[in-house]
Amino acid sequence: MHDLTTQDSRRTSFSIPNSRHLHVVTYGCQMNAYDSDRMADALAPAGFAVTETAEAADLIILNTCHIREHATEKLYSELGRLRVLQQARAEQGGRLLIAVAGCVAQAAGEALRARAPYVDIVLGPQTYHRLPDMVARAEAGEKVTQTEFPPEDKFDFLPEATRPQSINARGITAFLSIQEGCDKFCSFCVVPYTRGAESSRPAEAILAEARGLVANGAREITLLGQNVNAWHGLGADGAVWGLARLAYALAGIEGLHRIRYTTSHPRDMGDDLIAAHRDLPQLMPFLHLPVQSGSDRILAAMNRKHSAEHYLRLIERLRAARPDIALSSDFIVGHPGESEADFEATLELIRAVGFAQAYSFKYSSRPGTRAADLPDQIAEEVKVERLARLQDLLRDQQFAFNRSMTGRVLDILFTGPGRQGGQLSGRTPYLQPIHLNGPANCIGSIMPVRITEAFANSLTGTFEKERACA
Ligand code: SAH
Ligand code: SF4
Ligand code: F3S
Repeated sequence: MHDLTTQDSRRTSFSIPNSRHLHVVTYGCQMNAYDSDRMADALAPAGFAVTETAEAADLIILNTCHIREHATEKLYSELGRLRVLQQARAEQGGRLLIAVAGCVAQAAGEALRARAPYVDIVLGPQTYHRLPDMVARAEAGEKVTQTEFPPEDKFDFLPEATRPQSINARGITAFLSIQEGCDKFCSFCVVPYTRGAESSRPAEAILAEARGLVANGAREITLLGQNVNAWHGLGADGAVWGLARLAYALAGIEGLHRIRYTTSHPRDMGDDLIAAHRDLPQLMPFLHLPVQSGSDRILAAMNRKHSAEHYLRLIERLRAARPDIALSSDFIVGHPGESEADFEATLELIRAVGFAQAYSFKYSSRPGTRAADLPDQIAEEVKVERLARLQDLLRDQQFAFNRSMTGRVLDILFTGPGRQGGQLSGRTPYLQPIHLNGPANCIGSIMPVRITEAFANSLTGTFEKERACA
């Protein structure tokens, strides 16, 4: 997912007058960002308005990530800070409820409660529709833990994500979760344990949500799933659709100019989806397709069930279908057993593909995963050194890709104001951020822009046509 892997927290920030206040801190992937909005939606009917400050909140939800050890440790330091706030509130005769949601809640459950007994609610990702009930019980003094996978589908019970007051419905770009969970069990990964088995939402529910988002102003929708291209949902015609078919149906929604999807697995990249990249101008020419390693030996140890050659052939076919497609990936260095030659094979694959951007990580041992028990764990200093070499190469490729845009005219979707006065922020078709001077009424429009300068992580340019945005 575009920045599926960021560990930066995002704080939801808008406020409407209401009786109680909710503050949500989001860690981890876009799926968590989407879920945070849905949790806020679920609590709105109970009188909770979102606030951007923890100090103003009656309920704080930490929506957590378990993917690497560092991500989990962040939670405990944030909890320590919130405990102080909770105690201060109690001394003033008030009450602050603390909830831990997301993947650490699912994985750690009771252990989390033991380490932080002042937490009021611990809830796993499949239980968010039950949140209003859990909050009511916590307000009555109960310590609530819900980490079992419930029989019902939360999406059938969550309020619609497209109501005008819904946070998710407010953006020019919106996320839409279509698939959750994973059955692939890569050696290193906690997701199958934290998100559960792979499941797909039905096509009609997705299309209805997409139409609602577009009616509220969304011009770009990113379909989300831990294995988004494994999505297979029931269509209105009673047939089981794949992601390609869904993309064609979404492309029929008037006003939806851009469709993206993330994160894909190389094993599920079917011919029909590749053909959709050829046929659908709405399907953006950018694909995040994690490969993790370029060594077949390590790919086998990782249980990825594809080879480096398979990945390279996929890229070839994608480029044949959509010659300008930009590629992104995730890489792990220092998986148990990774030799210098294995690592070199990863560098080789990177050179062969030429990535527009990528995320890369040191292998982090996760309790309960297969790789945690493998012999031949790699020393920290070796991981550090390999990661630095890998990131040097990836940084060079990203900068070269950005520089290749200078002088070109790109269609920019303007998503909001820029950081400086008079500036706008937008995105290229290749998901590069761009900042340039322009009128605020361009927000929500797609306009041609000539790229004048490229930076390591963004672009700038000038409007190609001196005409007002619609
Ligand atoms: N479903 C996606 C990715 C999920 S996790 C996929 O299959 O590609 C996002 C990324 O975090 C992974 O692609 C991987 O590169 C990284 N990651 C996952 N577990 C990790 C671990 N134990 N140590 C280091 N990086 C890890
Ligand atoms: Fe994790 Fe592998 Fe599933 Fe991706 S495909 S979520 S890396 S187990
Ligand atoms: Fe993290 Fe869970 Fe997403 S472990 S990356 S928040 S699926």
